[in-house]
Amino acid sequence: MGTSAFGGTLKRIFGARAIAGKYTSLQLDDDAIARGDYKLHLGGGSEGWDARGLFQLHLLRARGLEPSSTLLDIGCGPLRAGVHFIRYLDAGNYQGFDYNASFVTAGQRLIAEHGLADKRPSVAMLADFDFRGVERRFDYGLAFSVLNHCNEAQRKLFFANIGRCLAPGAKLFISHARWLKEPDLASARLSILNRFDAADLDLSNYGWPAPEQRSVCPIYELVKRSD
Ligand SMILES: C[S@@+](CC[C@H](N)C(=O)[O-])C[C@H]1O[C@@H](n2cnc3c(N)ncnc32)[C@H](O)[C@@H]1O
Repeated sequence: MGTSAFGGTLKRIFGARAIAGKYTSLQLDDDAIARGDYKLHLGGGSEGWDARGLFQLHLLRARGLEPSSTLLDIGCGPLRAGVHFIRYLDAGNYQGFDYNASFVTAGQRLIAEHGLADKRPSVAMLADFDFRGVERRFDYGLAFSVLNHCNEAQRKLFFANIGRCLAPGAKLFISHARWLKEPDLASARLSILNRFDAADLDLSNYGWPAPEQRSVCPIYELVKRSD
């Protein structure tokens, strides 16, 4: 996909507005996607890829995720964690969104390569947190290393809309969340259930060297109150 085509894709999806974020201008052509170059654009690169993806599954399982749970993976990227979730969850229970077209394409290819099509995952473009196309209420939501790449207006939009995508009692996990303040959560009817810091997590075993571990945290476990 050439630069102009990519620009066109963003314009169609987002309108004329400039969208903030380091991943908005990243584009990978077919060869780059086939080579797995998308791995180089996420923290930890190829080396940390599997472990950092698996960490996300292990964290949510430790906090109650079951195969019958439904999961909304917001800013799912090229399914670093998504392939693990899709394999674990029952068919039809994974939905991933991202605003980067190359990552969405890479994710869709990985689903085929990993033989996961029977799990009927949905991976699609997200127009800057409007959550159009999300027609169900999920048991779990995850924004792993996503909102830290967003500006305040985007985070506001996220919290204005995420509430209607979550079932009462659903849990939402947000990582790299030093910026998060309790009043942010009011519009989504979310409350803090737990806050995990580096000392609470076994990040060394999941591909994070010591100097990087503090940036992953806090990870918040939030719960959706009833509507
Ligand atoms: C560091 S990557 C993490 C990807 C994935 N959550 C993981 O841990 O493997 C951040 C992702 O968030 C996506 N992202 C950032 N801001 C976004 C926004 N406003 N709307 C949708 N996706 C966004 C990026 O395109 C990128 O795929």
